[in-house]
Amino acid sequence: MAEPKITLTDSRTDKSYEVPIQNSTIRAIDLRQVREVPEEFGMMTYDPGYTNTASCSSKVCFIDGDKGILRYRGYPIENLAENCTYTEVAYLLLYGELPTQSELGGWNAEIGMRTMVHENLKKFMDGFRYDAHPMGMLISSVAALSTFYPEAKNIQSKTNRRMQQLRLLGKIPTLAAYAYRHSQGLPYTMPDNELTYTENFMNMLWRRTEPKYDPDPVLAKALDVLFILHADHEQNCSTSTMRTVGSSNADPYISLSAACGALYGPLHGGANEAVLKMLDEIGSMENIPKFIKEVKEGERRLMGFGHRVYKNYDPRAKIIKTIADQVFEVTGKNPKIELAKELEKIALEDDYFVKRRLYPNVDFYSGIIYEAMGFRPEMFTVLFAIGRTVGWLTHWEELMEDPEARIARPRQVYLGPGEREFVPIAERLGKMQSERA
Ligand code: ACO
Repeated sequence: MAEPKITLTDSRTDKSYEVPIQNSTIRAIDLRQVREVPEEFGMMTYDPGYTNTASCSSKVCFIDGDKGILRYRGYPIENLAENCTYTEVAYLLLYGELPTQSELGGWNAEIGMRTMVHENLKKFMDGFRYDAHPMGMLISSVAALSTFYPEAKNIQSKTNRRMQQLRLLGKIPTLAAYAYRHSQGLPYTMPDNELTYTENFMNMLWRRTEPKYDPDPVLAKALDVLFILHADHEQNCSTSTMRTVGSSNADPYISLSAACGALYGPLHGGANEAVLKMLDEIGSMENIPKFIKEVKEGERRLMGFGHRVYKNYDPRAKIIKTIADQVFEVTGKNPKIELAKELEKIALEDDYFVKRRLYPNVDFYSGIIYEAMGFRPEMFTVLFAIGRTVGWLTHWEELMEDPEARIARPRQVYLGPGEREFVPIAERLGKMQSERA
């Protein structure tokens, strides 16, 4: 079969161009040949927020937003959440295949060996104020790791990259737990590598004076599933940030710290915190209609609703909704769940949300579970970051191996003034004056 092509005709010149199609995509650079006059730069695409631009090719994560499908390396998220542990899924993401029992044992041991952090990093943490946001602490301490492992700059070596990936997977829960305990004024807890990845995280968060922490199995499983659900989501804002910063050959600690920064925003991973604040603000059922009215009038957003890719129910939100009941059996019910369910019911029947295909996303219910477990909203995005760390690292590794990878450097459409004559400072009118003139 002949190579598929798209034919473009430029109405300015009546010239036609044939552009090859590959994987339902055309290469933006193929448009450069489209010019009105030979000295022109050539045509570009304009895509604020990258709503229709593939920035890379990837073999990690598949999403069909219309059908509400999410797969890691081909495996449906529902199967992975039901049958695997987080570290098993982390192995799948990073290495492309599910581990055998002995591979998993070795992998867990490798990560477990790297859960401790340098004592100086604890002192660094101590420098934060008692009420510092734990995301600010996480972002800074991940960046600080770069100074402890200067060899991480050698990103050309695959062996070296693997070492940093193990370190990051091992240390992220430790840094997250230290940020949590700092805000509580509690001494930091040493990791316990006899526990699983998630149980050890719980140990570092919640162990007090008991000689050995005994994690609740239901809560440990729930937290582990939440980490799995957050592990990857293809080219979202933070993963794209990881790739963008990584494309300048920055070391993985710096790139991952930048990815955490992107996650912090309330339109991305910070939405789970924003959902809880929103529910607190709404307060009770009778205030819901007024709130929905304000959303429809564009005064605010229904946080935890809507997604760039999903135009159907986010499959992760479905799983989280079922976990909620299991968690509440241990912790007691979080009354906010009823408020959230009512908001969802109203929104799913309301024309405004139906027309725009706005459904609950992963963040709508996760915060309610986290709160029931005893986390303050400030910690929610930190928990998201723990799960997503492996996704960021996997995409970074894919970038490092991609022969087509180049430094990320988008173009712009310049709409500013043309060349102007320089005005000496004494003769300038100033912006306010010239606007008045
Ligand atoms: N509440 C009310 N209206 C909304 C919402 C919402 N949560 N989300 C989108 N809309 C409306 C917009 O106002 C817009 O309406 P219009 O066409 O009349 O102008 C339309 O739906 C399309 O919205 P966009 O903002 O253009 O969609 P985009 O793909 O750029 O944004 C986003 C996606 C950021 C997730 C958005 O839906 C949002 O702000 N949601 C709330 C924050 C949130 O929950 N973020 C978490 C996302 S999941 C994650 O990152 C882990």
